[in-house]
Amino acid sequence: MLNKLKYFSVFGNPIKHTLSPKIHSLFSKQTKIPCVYTAVKISLNEFDKKINFFFNTIGDGANITLPFKEQAYHISDVLTNRAKLSKSVNTLKKMEDGKILGDNTDGIGLLYDLNRLNFLQNSNKILLIGAGGAAKGILPSISLKENKIFIFNRTYLRAKKLEKEFSYLGDIKAITFEDLLNIKIDLIIHATSSYIKGEKLILPSSLIHKNIYCYDISYVKNNRFTPFLNWSKELGAINLSDGKGMLISQAAYSFLLWNDVLPDIDSTLLKI
Ligand code: ATR
Repeated sequence: MLNKLKYFSVFGNPIKHTLSPKIHSLFSKQTKIPCVYTAVKISLNEFDKKINFFFNTIGDGANITLPFKEQAYHISDVLTNRAKLSKSVNTLKKMEDGKILGDNTDGIGLLYDLNRLNFLQNSNKILLIGAGGAAKGILPSISLKENKIFIFNRTYLRAKKLEKEFSYLGDIKAITFEDLLNIKIDLIIHATSSYIKGEKLILPSSLIHKNIYCYDISYVKNNRFTPFLNWSKELGAINLSDGKGMLISQAAYSFLLWNDVLPDIDSTLLKI
């Protein structure tokens, strides 16, 4: 029997540079599950209207990107556990009864990639830089029992707020710039929007040593290194990765939610 053609889309603002349609088209070819996947830019005040229209007409599933992940959390009729934990949603699925299920695959995508890279081996002291939506989305996934998480943010109070909200999950502590000067970290995860805004990120160079792992959840098209990774490399860090693997992994787990098949992540990474 032929598979029914399914309709998916990513919604965000801006959306011009998204790689999601390309990634999902590779997944569709690889798994032989026929899908249409588009990218739609929506205005800031039209989120509910556009999403409802999509699901009331052709939509089977959607990815939600900046700045709508919290709104997606609120419009979901049912939430997966990991969406409840991160209080944000990057994947929506129309269920058989018509209800909308909200999930968050960013955290599992990050974990898959950190494991693929072997960045979590002996990395118990993790520094998360940033305390916005992106940092919040991944915090539950790295708050494993054996890890000690430090959160540093330009605005300390936002880091403190994340500490209060999530410390029931593990050992999480907001720290100041002065604290950063006296700390030895195993893995840094960069999750600020500084480079997207073209702004400088100020961190003490003493953070970097030759055994540190540096991961940036964002990526620069056609370039291996983001400004944070370049900064780390110049100071002698060797183990560096941008977030392309996380992007493909979170997409693969969205595909799994929609189609019950997990595409092969590693071979897709070679084609993006
Ligand atoms: P997102 O959902 O992408 O995380 P956000 O909620 O606006 O977006 O948060 C952006 C994050 O990047 C915040 O942690 C922000 O720090 P502040 O809370 O101090 O604003 C951080 N950020 C943005 N520009 C920065 C810069 N130039 N230097 C350091 N941190 C920056």
